[in-house]
Amino acid sequence: MSSLIKNARPVAVIGAGPAGLYAAKELADAGYEVALLNRDIKLGGLAEYGIYYDKHKMKSGLRKQFHRLMEADNIHYYGNVKIAADGDLSLDDLRSMGFAGILVTVGAQGTKWLGLPGEHYKGVYHAKDLVYHYNKLPPFSQKTYQIGESVALIGVGNVMTDIAHWTIRDLKVDKVTAVARRGPAEIKFTKKEWQNVAKNLDRDAFEKEFAECVPVMEAVGQDVEMAKDFILAPIANALEPDSDSCFYFDFFANPTQIVGSEAGKVTGLEVEETKLEARPDGTTKPVGTGVKRVIPADTVIFCIGDRVDADFGLPLNKWQEFAKNPNPKYPVEDTSYEAYDPENDQPLPGIFLAGWAREASYGLVGIARKDGTNGSHALMQYLDDTPGSERAEDAFGKLEAQLGKLGKPVVSKADWLRLSAAEQDRAAALGLEEFKFGSNDEMLAAISMAPEKLGEQ
Ligand SMILES: Cc1cc2nc3c(=O)[nH]c(=O)nc-3n(C[C@H](O)[C@H](O)[C@H](O)COP(=O)(O)OP(=O)(O)OC[C@H]3O[C@@H](n4cnc5c(N)ncnc54)[C@H](O)[C@@H]3O)c2cc1C
Ligand SMILES: NC(=O)c1ccc[n+]([C@@H]2O[C@H](COP(=O)([O-])OP(=O)(O)OC[C@H]3O[C@@H](n4cnc5c(N)ncnc54)[C@H](OP(=O)(O)O)[C@@H]3O)[C@@H](O)[C@H]2O)c1
Repeated sequence: MSSLIKNARPVAVIGAGPAGLYAAKELADAGYEVALLNRDIKLGGLAEYGIYYDKHKMKSGLRKQFHRLMEADNIHYYGNVKIAADGDLSLDDLRSMGFAGILVTVGAQGTKWLGLPGEHYKGVYHAKDLVYHYNKLPPFSQKTYQIGESVALIGVGNVMTDIAHWTIRDLKVDKVTAVARRGPAEIKFTKKEWQNVAKNLDRDAFEKEFAECVPVMEAVGQDVEMAKDFILAPIANALEPDSDSCFYFDFFANPTQIVGSEAGKVTGLEVEETKLEARPDGTTKPVGTGVKRVIPADTVIFCIGDRVDADFGLPLNKWQEFAKNPNPKYPVEDTSYEAYDPENDQPLPGIFLAGWAREASYGLVGIARKDGTNGSHALMQYLDDTPGSERAEDAFGKLEAQLGKLGKPVVSKADWLRLSAAEQDRAAALGLEEFKFGSNDEMLAAISMAPEKLGEQ
């Protein structure tokens, strides 16, 4: 452990994605000694392992920012450490070590399924696993995923466009169909992301599909022309296609089951057609019409967002989110960052939530940054209000003693810097914009073989 500030109080931030990193820096700037614990060897979370792999400029810009944040001497990094009820350490372990406060920024690591019959068939995947796979996060990077030639994507958000991008431009599959339970006016993806695949849209099929959507949209007063323009206008400036893949939309179609062969392989996605019911608050509710049909597909990928890890060790609310204190004592911008036990109707003292751990699958990196910052401010209000005599030497001493007993490598800030340097060197040697080791073993080997480390030995 690097030297500790005398009399500084120790705090723990769990998760080193954008929310955790910016929160750690705020806490460090305020004079706390911060233990930053992260499941992955590398920090960055979805900025490293979610953002599409060819967005080199954005990713290297974020990595540079993260390096600057990590320059704070009072942020101590512990990578390759999973905190969970069944993890390397539990929340209770951390509490008993004497950390004065804990900010949980572990993102949304649980998988959100719809509970449809047939979800177990071969060829059914969740976008998160595939995103981790192509962005080289172990162990997903080491698994094989059988993607066929006719892919149904459930959902029409930016994750759908990322998966369409991968299946159309990298895998060059024959056919990709985005299935939406609502209509063209309630698409969630952005024009910029759509432009990666927009030129693969089968225009004739789209015109036919859109014409069928018009009466449903008009029935609830939606702007039909604007919705059509949102899809068609960006095509002019979209990326030139580099495959013959055809992209289709299937709107007003709510998945009801996955159809499979006797061999247990996906053959289609059954949907129930929907219409919209206007709600008083201006939103709509998709309502089934009773008419069902099957969209032929050999692969079905859920692109419907994620949920938090139910096994992390924090209580959940009825929406399967980490429960938050409904009457926060330390709100920031009218938002509760306080973890809560709904059964006993009590906040969990000193435990705070931020980023996608607070609100799963919500927003871009900038939003996670702001939420992490706000979460750290909520935690600091609590710490100011709850004076304590916790000593950083004690908490960090106990933490490192426990980590030493795990029998696995724990990655320090210096190790992470060595790994970053080794990957940059490898990219330069190969003439690539970016290089990533695809397994933990390779990353750990690169850390231990990096020249500075050899020099130290
Ligand atoms: C496919 C995809 C593409 C995206 N593309 C973009 C984009 O192009 N531009 C953009 O601005 N935003 C993009 N986003 C959104 C952005 O990535 C998120 O807003 C942001 O990363 C959320 O930050 P977070 O810190 O809350 O969570 P995460 O980024 O998920 O970080 C969570 C961290 O917690 C760690 N962790 C998890 N569980 C544990 C545990 N049990 N113990 C210890 N550590 C743990 C993980 O290792 C990880 O480092 C994308 C998201 C996805 C899913
Ligand atoms: N390149 C980028 O900038 C980028 C890339 C990826 C992700 N992100 C960001 O990451 C966040 C998460 O993205 P996301 O695409 O996962 O989420 P999203 O934008 O919320 O889209 C989720 C999609 O899934 C559908 N869906 C949700 N529950 C469903 C259900 N029960 N049945 C059928 N369909 C369902 C939604 O339909 P309804 O609208 O009908 O609910 C919506 O179309 C977003 O903020 C996104 O912008 C950004």
